Amino acid sequence: MRLEFPKKFLWGAATSAHQVEGGNHNDWTEWEKTTGHEESGRACDHYNRFRDDFDIAKFLGHNAHRFSIEWSRIEPEEGRWDEKEIAHYQEVINALRERGIEPFVTLWHWTLPVWVAEQGGWENKKTIDDFARYVDKIVRSLKSVVYWITLNEPEIYTTNSYLRGKWPPQKKSFFKFLKVYNNLAEAHIKCSKLGFQQIGIAKNNSYFEGWLVPVLNYFWNNWFLNKIKNHQNFIGLNYYFHNRIKGFKLNQNENKETSDMGWEIYPEGIYYVLKNLKKYQKPVYITENGVADVQDIHREKFIKEHLRYAHKAIQEGVDVRGYFYWSLLDNFEWDKGFWPRFGLVEVDYKTMERKIRKSALEYAKIARENGLEI
Ligand code: FCB
Repeated sequence: MRLEFPKKFLWGAATSAHQVEGGNHNDWTEWEKTTGHEESGRACDHYNRFRDDFDIAKFLGHNAHRFSIEWSRIEPEEGRWDEKEIAHYQEVINALRERGIEPFVTLWHWTLPVWVAEQGGWENKKTIDDFARYVDKIVRSLKSVVYWITLNEPEIYTTNSYLRGKWPPQKKSFFKFLKVYNNLAEAHIKCSKLGFQQIGIAKNNSYFEGWLVPVLNYFWNNWFLNKIKNHQNFIGLNYYFHNRIKGFKLNQNENKETSDMGWEIYPEGIYYVLKNLKKYQKPVYITENGVADVQDIHREKFIKEHLRYAHKAIQEGVDVRGYFYWSLLDNFEWDKGFWPRFGLVEVDYKTMERKIRKSALEYAKIARENGLEI
């Protein structure tokens, strides 16, 4: 059977600054050092090699690409703009456009300038104003960008940093969690008034099964979106997780197939998660979906199956307009370090050599044909 995707569908991959650029100095690099975690260091040296990497994306038939701007580069000290860094991101955008690739630009993918972290990060209301000022500067500087994503996965960040207390700033407190969550929503709403062409967030939603579904759906999948629903042009969906609840236990999945991270591979879930977004009546871009798979034995099927279920949701009226595989390159996976291999392209961290994985060529075929055979 052949599955055709809607005309002008966007096909690409996603990255984030801290995970690929190298040479950053922000609250995460400080945390990596002080806690003895693996350091992001040079990462993929994408900061210097972005043109070569975009040549690869073009070769792979991508017509869109999601990346993030590193706030700590733009405003290393409060109120001091680094125009050279703004010019760097303009070059990144030009390099994409020259290759016929539409940029999707994320403004905050979890890292903060050190001075922002020192004033209490997102716990401090002042950070909302500081963020909006940085966003305003960027939007006025990088005028050619159409698609903007203010925040990446506010719920994953607040959960890991404040509910579980595992990520910087490791402040475990339910009240802080709530405060940060609300401040992030407020920050998005404030930024939404800054004259973007198209604005949204990247929201990590899960497919839940079991008796707690209404509660979990509400709090995990819809709560943040409900807060910002009148202040977005599109919804960015990051889909990775299925969560089956038995009794009072979460995560009782069958785990027939898992990634190298131990995450269950459950493509059908993307269908339900997309259907749940239909009520917002906004275009949806799948801004992340991917698998850690060093041997490249799951990736091709992973992509095809997720697309099959995304296609089913499209057939049933969900306005899905793009798919960004996570990630273009192997990269620095936060507290896990470099071992998880999510890339369409393998990176040798010693030589920085890039090697295209077989599954990437299969995905390229889909992108070029705007459809797939199953
Ligand atoms: C998502 C993050 C992204 C990456 C993938 C594996 O939650 O947005 O940066 O780490 O998971």
